[in-house]
Amino acid sequence: MTPVRIAPSILSADFAKLGEEVRAIDAAGADWIHIDVMDGHFVPNITIGPAVIKALRPHSAKPFDVHLMIAPVDPMLEAFAEAGADCLSVHPESGPHLHRTLQTIKALGKRAGVVLNPATPVDAVDHVMDLVDLILVMSVNPGFGGQKFIESQLAKISALRARIDTSGRHIDLEVDGGVDRSNAARVIAAGADALVAGTAAFKGGPTAYADNIQALRAG
Ligand code: DX5
Ligand code: ZN
Repeated sequence: MTPVRIAPSILSADFAKLGEEVRAIDAAGADWIHIDVMDGHFVPNITIGPAVIKALRPHSAKPFDVHLMIAPVDPMLEAFAEAGADCLSVHPESGPHLHRTLQTIKALGKRAGVVLNPATPVDAVDHVMDLVDLILVMSVNPGFGGQKFIESQLAKISALRARIDTSGRHIDLEVDGGVDRSNAARVIAAGADALVAGTAAFKGGPTAYADNIQALRAG
């Protein structure tokens, strides 16, 4: 079993010095850089777009794990691929045809992820298990960092772990929202193999980043 991957969300970084923050979190041991893209329409917050991702690309060689909270998502996929995303994750609710959206991501040469909101059932991935590279379980309602972990999502993580194992495919199972030192062990025990952490990764400033990441990885 691969050790759990830690994907710090730069939503909790200092936006006035994002390049520096990405270099610091990379050096502190981040496996992936999680980038939350919000449009003020699909979710009630606005963050960053392809231009910022492109500007950050030279600051880290780690995979850019791009979480798209925008609708409609299809017209923007190429721009995010060209900006330097390695994995593009989409919500089933952000377009009319999830299967087609994932096909487009794969045709762009990127890893394809599906994100399940707390209210989105596990069954939403059934018809795309042959296409998807990553499933991201939201353990908060998307839109903001610093929210409280929703405990009911642990059962969803376990259910998805079973489906992934049955599929026989390599599919990463990532969890996003309110993950911290107090619940990381339970999230990993439920079957997650990648953890997103905003607040818990960036709290305390750059001198704390390595310890923050290590604590999450240890569960
Ligand atoms: C929420 C975002 C998360 C968020 C996580 O919509 O998708 O990635 O940044 O932040 P924390 O870890 O603070 O909940
Ligand atoms: Zn996210």
